[in-house]
Amino acid sequence: MNKNQRENIAMITGASAGIGLELTRKLLSEDWQVIALNRSDFPTDDMRIQEAFKSGWLRIYKTTDLADYASLRRALEEIKDKEQRIDILFNNAGGTFPELSYSKQGREKHYELLTVVPYIILMELKKLIKKGRLKTVINTSSSALKFTKEFNIEILERPKIFRKLLGPYATSKLALSLWTQAIASQLAEDDIKIRSVDPGSNNTLRKGKKSGLPILVQTLMKLFFSAPTHGAGKLYEGALGEHRNETGVFLLKGQVADLKFKDQARNVLERINMIYEHEFLQRNF
Ligand SMILES: NC(=O)c1ccc[n+]([C@@H]2O[C@H](COP(=O)([O-])OP(=O)(O)OC[C@H]3O[C@@H](n4cnc5c(N)ncnc54)[C@H](OP(=O)(O)O)[C@@H]3O)[C@@H](O)[C@H]2O)c1
Repeated sequence: MNKNQRENIAMITGASAGIGLELTRKLLSEDWQVIALNRSDFPTDDMRIQEAFKSGWLRIYKTTDLADYASLRRALEEIKDKEQRIDILFNNAGGTFPELSYSKQGREKHYELLTVVPYIILMELKKLIKKGRLKTVINTSSSALKFTKEFNIEILERPKIFRKLLGPYATSKLALSLWTQAIASQLAEDDIKIRSVDPGSNNTLRKGKKSGLPILVQTLMKLFFSAPTHGAGKLYEGALGEHRNETGVFLLKGQVADLKFKDQARNVLERINMIYEHEFLQRNF
């Protein structure tokens, strides 16, 4: 089949495992082209993935760590050089860390990876998204955000206390959903729609990957959580389902849900834009 017959193009970050991998499989099976921005390789025993790669329907860009701006910039430059357009951007890469840690740029790592980096990717790829037909951005958020009790920029950047899942992870996902809401009207000027989506509860535990989840959640995950095809379905619906014409919203269980700390949304957007302009754009790596 000729590449031109696959008319829709999605870009997915963190497509090598879990929800992102299942979303890649789903979109490829529905004749999409997929641009993957990954740290790890795709499973070598997945023949469909390997065939899609050989045929050019799946194009893979590598980074050593999305939260390292030098590596992120190299990968984004390559994408801008080689790709023509993006119909839907899925900012999906992420996860929970087991302890308090900091990015190379000195910010708490959940905040860097889950809140700031998706913004940088969006800003850098906006021209390609504008050329796309669906002009849609889906940020993978989490229902954990509702457990946030205190919220401000200082807590995001340098938290004093750490709790697995309900600490910096939840706060960073809330910040992601807040800037998604705050930027919607600005993106509407370019006809771009943006939503944040909770993918539900998925068992994405992996051998060899240190989980940042509390032991109880890990046990629940093994026993009761769905396969990551569930989360992939939620992101897909979030992009193409009944809310496809809405922008700025947070989708939880497929419905528009309210966010806490909405008064902070603009602050978060201003802060991450400042980081983008001063630390990503102006620095030589
Ligand atoms: N699982 C759930 O129930 C659940 C619920 C709510 C929200 N989420 C969110 O859904 C998204 C996907 O999670 P998942 O459960 O599918 O996790 P996963 O199975 O661990 O997959 C995460 C993907 O992101 C990549 N990634 C993580 N950190 C990275 C980094 N610093 N640089 C580059 N790539 C990185 C991983 O690459 P490697 O393979 O190299 O690690 C992997 O491809 C995350 O944003 C997560 O917070 C998940």
